[in-house]
Amino acid sequence: MAHPHDANRRHWDEVTALHRDSAFYDVEGFLAGRCTIGPIEREALAPLLRRNLLHLQCHFGLDTLSLLRLGAARVTGVDFSAPAIAEARRLADRLKLSSWADFIEADVLDLDLGRRFDRIFTSHGAINWLSDIGAWGRVVARHLAPDGVFYMMEAHPVGLALDVDGEGRLYQRFPYFHAAEPLNLDGVPDYAEPDYLPKEPGIGWAWTIADVMAALEDAGLQVFAFREYPFAAWEALPAMTPDAERHYWHRAKDAGPDTPLLFSLKARHPI
Ligand SMILES: C[S@@+](CC[C@H](N)C(=O)[O-])C[C@H]1O[C@@H](n2cnc3c(N)ncnc32)[C@H](O)[C@@H]1O
Repeated sequence: MAHPHDANRRHWDEVTALHRDSAFYDVEGFLAGRCTIGPIEREALAPLLRRNLLHLQCHFGLDTLSLLRLGAARVTGVDFSAPAIAEARRLADRLKLSSWADFIEADVLDLDLGRRFDRIFTSHGAINWLSDIGAWGRVVARHLAPDGVFYMMEAHPVGLALDVDGEGRLYQRFPYFHAAEPLNLDGVPDYAEPDYLPKEPGIGWAWTIADVMAALEDAGLQVFAFREYPFAAWEALPAMTPDAERHYWHRAKDAGPDTPLLFSLKARHPI
């Protein structure tokens, strides 16, 4: 029987090699030592030393392996795309990090590893591929250690609903609130290679910040440290300018309307 995520798995299987070879992911730079975790995420996840970390929707492992390089004791990356997991394992081998990095091929909504982690992390374009945010919240709660911290940095749902028209004005293109009917992403270019239109576009679901918070709270977690940011992690709108931290600003930095483009939050078990 068809699963609501089948189209998305085909999408990610298609674009993984494209991403691996893209300037956006800069694998050569990463192999040479570049850390793909930005300063905000680095500080939020600290301390990592001696911490056991679970990375949900890890793509082909650059962030997961960066977290290991930043001092985590052991990292586990989970992704449902077989080519992404295979590439992550290859990179771990090349860097001689395989003894401390597990990569697991699984749909995140089915995940039940039977153990708990000090840190759980997910970021930048993960939850909008998921059909059930409540199930996702339960996966986070089930894997978080009693004194552990979950941290996410995600595309802001306000920014995801917007686009820029032919005259450079922001307008609302997609619905803001969640609807059971998924959004068809046909015609949306790849974020890492914007000249490439995926043959398998996949489908997405809008989740508001209230949906995300409710999913974590309903799973028994306490949400804290909610933040919003006026920059994106990729060229989410036309003609964005990246700065040295790879934060993508809508038009020039310090000019034009402020648009919320990223948010972050933490969650933990109630004390
Ligand atoms: C935009 S990437 C995550 C961003 C990541 N931080 C990066 O840039 O490397 C989204 C990832 O989610 C994965 N994914 C999407 N739906 C999933 C699901 N249901 N279960 C597990 N992984 C999923 C995709 O395979 C893809 O690797």
